[in-house]
Amino acid sequence: MYLEAKDIHIVYDCVRALQGISVSVDEGEIVTLIGANGAGKTSILRAITGLKSLQSGNITFNGEPIDKMSAVNIVERGITMVPEGRHVFPLMTVKDNLMMGAFRRRGKAGIAESLDMVLRLFPRLKERIGQAAGTMSGGEQQMLVIGRGLMAKPKLLLLDEPSLGVAPLFVQEIARAIVNINKEERVSIILVEQNSRMALKISHRAYVLVTGKIAIEGNSEVLRNDERVRHAYLGGSVE
Ligand SMILES: Nc1ncnc2c1ncn2[C@@H]1O[C@H](COP(=O)(O)OP(=O)(O)O)[C@@H](O)[C@H]1O
Ligand SMILES: [Mg+2]
Repeated sequence: MYLEAKDIHIVYDCVRALQGISVSVDEGEIVTLIGANGAGKTSILRAITGLKSLQSGNITFNGEPIDKMSAVNIVERGITMVPEGRHVFPLMTVKDNLMMGAFRRRGKAGIAESLDMVLRLFPRLKERIGQAAGTMSGGEQQMLVIGRGLMAKPKLLLLDEPSLGVAPLFVQEIARAIVNINKEERVSIILVEQNSRMALKISHRAYVLVTGKIAIEGNSEVLRNDERVRHAYLGGSVE
């Protein structure tokens, strides 16, 4: 296993947000975390990226323990998170927003290559390269923050609710881009989503969280047809 979190517990003041969670990601996989608001999805991402310390448990990446490492060192190992909420620098251009994602990197050629790759993935960003980021639509801003995350050249990309508040047409485009990032750029992905239907369609494996614990896990295709998942997360419909 590439990333492995074992039996992690997290508390905020008195809230036991994660109560013994184990998740893993293999190289090349898209793994999705689904579950209701407050289930603990973001907390898992914060634990992996070193933004929240564990009460107990451990996390390794490529066999190396990372749960006591600083957030900066974890980024340097190749793990990048795109947090929920599309925080762009509104007055800066699309290009300058993207370049912010590469600020830890050296080597102009590699950075230019990443920029080309991002603009290939998101042609809309290419069309708007000189536009102030704050004037773009929600969906376009979401593409921009994903693109900015890619500019760090991650091995593992963590996406927190990329489809939240995004118009349906853009959700499709973002879903397609996530698949391309994984397939063509060989980036492993943890996708946190409220849009379970989309997440189960594009991921290889899934974990369903219920109040800080994993309730169901397995192959995404299998979970899409699982009665419990369909009923609770897919509106009971048959695909
Ligand atoms: N900074 C915080 N302080 C106190 N409680 C928090 C904090 N962040 C999250 N929580 C609580 O931890 C639990 C899990 O939250 P979170 O990981 O954000 O869930 P999700 O991303 O699935 O919506 C919730 O009960 C939430 O209220
Ligand atoms: Mg969340």
